[in-house]
Amino acid sequence: MASARAEDDERHIAPLQLGTIERCVRLWSNKDDLVLTPFLGIGSEVYTAVKFGRRGVGIELKREYFHQAVKNIRRAETEKNVTTLWDLAEQNTATQAVNE
Ligand SMILES: C[S@@+](CC[C@H](N)C(=O)[O-])C[C@H]1O[C@@H](n2cnc3c(N)ncnc32)[C@H](O)[C@@H]1O
Repeated sequence: MASARAEDDERHIAPLQLGTIERCVRLWSNKDDLVLTPFLGIGSEVYTAVKFGRRGVGIELKREYFHQAVKNIRRAETEKNVTTLWDLAEQNTATQAVNE
């Protein structure tokens, strides 16, 4: 995930790890649900929501972070359209379940 920081930004940011965000999004939302974050930052929560078939809305104070979030979320949309080995494994499992 790319980051964005303006010259005058303080050096804080306590980045949540994507793995933690993924667990929360998958645990507390279903596909097509809308995930809201009032502190968008560079978009990790919305990126993850889109990645896992949810939709997302975020609010961000800083322009640079907002623009980076848009880039990151667009990347999630692009990546989502790529079939991964996990998708194939899930499809295979679903097909097996239907055939049993
Ligand atoms: C800890 S960061 C969030 C990081 C985010 N979880 C991510 O992974 O990118 C908190 C964000 O909230 C933004 N923020 C703080 N106060 C805000 C406010 N009142 N309205 C909108 N955004 C705000 C900050 O600019 C900062 O980008």
